[in-house]
Amino acid sequence: MSHSDQYTIEDLYQSQHLDRKYFTIVTYGCQMNQHDSERLAGQLKSIGYEYTEVLSEANFVLVNTCCVRESAEKKIYGKIGELKTLKASKPNLIIGITGCMAQKDREKLFQKAPHIDLVLGTHNVHQLVETVKEFEETKKHVLAVWDQAERLAPDVPTIRKGAISAWVPIMYGCNNFCTYCIVPYVRGRERSRPVADIVKEVYELGQEGFKEITLLGQNVNSYGKDAEQNGDFADLLHAVDQVETIERIRYMTSHPRDINDKVIDVIKNSKKICEYFHLPVQSGSNTILKAMNRGYTTEYYKELIKKIRKAIPHASLTTDIIVGFPGETEELFQETLDFVKEIGFDSAYTFLYSKRSGTPAATMPNQVPAEVKQNRLQQLMDAQNDISLEINKRLVGKTVTVMVEGPSKNDESRLMGRTATNKIILWDKRGTEKIGELAKVTITTAQTWILKGQLVD
Ligand code: 5AD
Ligand code: SF4
Repeated sequence: MSHSDQYTIEDLYQSQHLDRKYFTIVTYGCQMNQHDSERLAGQLKSIGYEYTEVLSEANFVLVNTCCVRESAEKKIYGKIGELKTLKASKPNLIIGITGCMAQKDREKLFQKAPHIDLVLGTHNVHQLVETVKEFEETKKHVLAVWDQAERLAPDVPTIRKGAISAWVPIMYGCNNFCTYCIVPYVRGRERSRPVADIVKEVYELGQEGFKEITLLGQNVNSYGKDAEQNGDFADLLHAVDQVETIERIRYMTSHPRDINDKVIDVIKNSKKICEYFHLPVQSGSNTILKAMNRGYTTEYYKELIKKIRKAIPHASLTTDIIVGFPGETEELFQETLDFVKEIGFDSAYTFLYSKRSGTPAATMPNQVPAEVKQNRLQQLMDAQNDISLEINKRLVGKTVTVMVEGPSKNDESRLMGRTATNKIILWDKRGTEKIGELAKVTITTAQTWILKGQLVD
């Protein structure tokens, strides 16, 4: 009997399978983090790791972290605790922590959780391969956290999660220092990518089959301010609008202070830029806005919305609001409630103020007790939900264009798509729809978060 006869095909497959190395990435936080995870995944793939969704199957687990609120940090420490148990049963498991908490807490992470092997900061995402190799050679904790970013990090291989929609970072960091926010401390100062690089990436994504791109930055309206030859955000939007391989363009996040007439004009006259404005107002009280260092007043914000609605009447508008910022009295909170009712946002992301140590607001007097914050959040959500439903009801009977994204999460017999105004629409699958194509749906039912309808032939 020859040597090879001793093994069945299944044995061979099994042995190869055992040789394979699997990674998984658990991502918390914003779109920028989701995109960083795509760049981390690409690097792991380049050194032979394959992706698995199943945590217990992985030889390498990366936790890409967020520290914008304490609640996120608590959840992440819970996850890191879970990994300790996994490592006990799988001693060769490599555990890496990346993202904003890694940038903030650095070697403290090793002290709190010695089962962590790598800590990689937000400016070091491109160094994953180097750090993995170093760990494999030394089997000692590897810390790679730069205080400051290189102007622009080198390119690394990227594996995109979706097939239709892709993220394209246009700038990194934030210079605003809103008094509650940790982001400028963990993501550094603003750095814009050149227009030509962004346009090239968008063009290539279109060629690969992506239909929609989202331009990402902590404050996209500041795009180009750090490098004058670049042009500004309006110029960039205009340039990306000309890329013929792509169908829809989104962007986030905007700062109300920095969005200008030129941007509104480019969006109005564009072919592909979605008529959707996410403009975080944070508070409807001028006293609080000032304490937050937001750089605008409620009057300014109202004028801005008037301008947008005049230029693009069917545009949708969403916002972020923080309740319980230090010094927010019942009266000042009422101003936020009234403001929200007056503007009529399509929806709002609402947050309890969370003290972030090192930010100016953390040491401000008159911190608001937890139960008061909770109560205000509930009032605000109730008010906003009524408004969202009211606005959505106006769409019943109307026919809207959606980009088909795929089956609904809860019901495979339904498809899900989004309008340019970012409304989520569900309809009974006909079978003729193609993922990534545009379809027309007549709205039959409005709910607070979604709309249901029927496909139009
Ligand atoms: N507490 C609560 N919410 C916060 N945000 C940022 N920092 C904090 C904080 N310390 C919110 C803001 C921002 C969104 C992404 O997170 O509303 O727009
Ligand atoms: Fe934070 Fe303000 Fe920068 Fe947004 S603009 S990331 S809220 S500091």
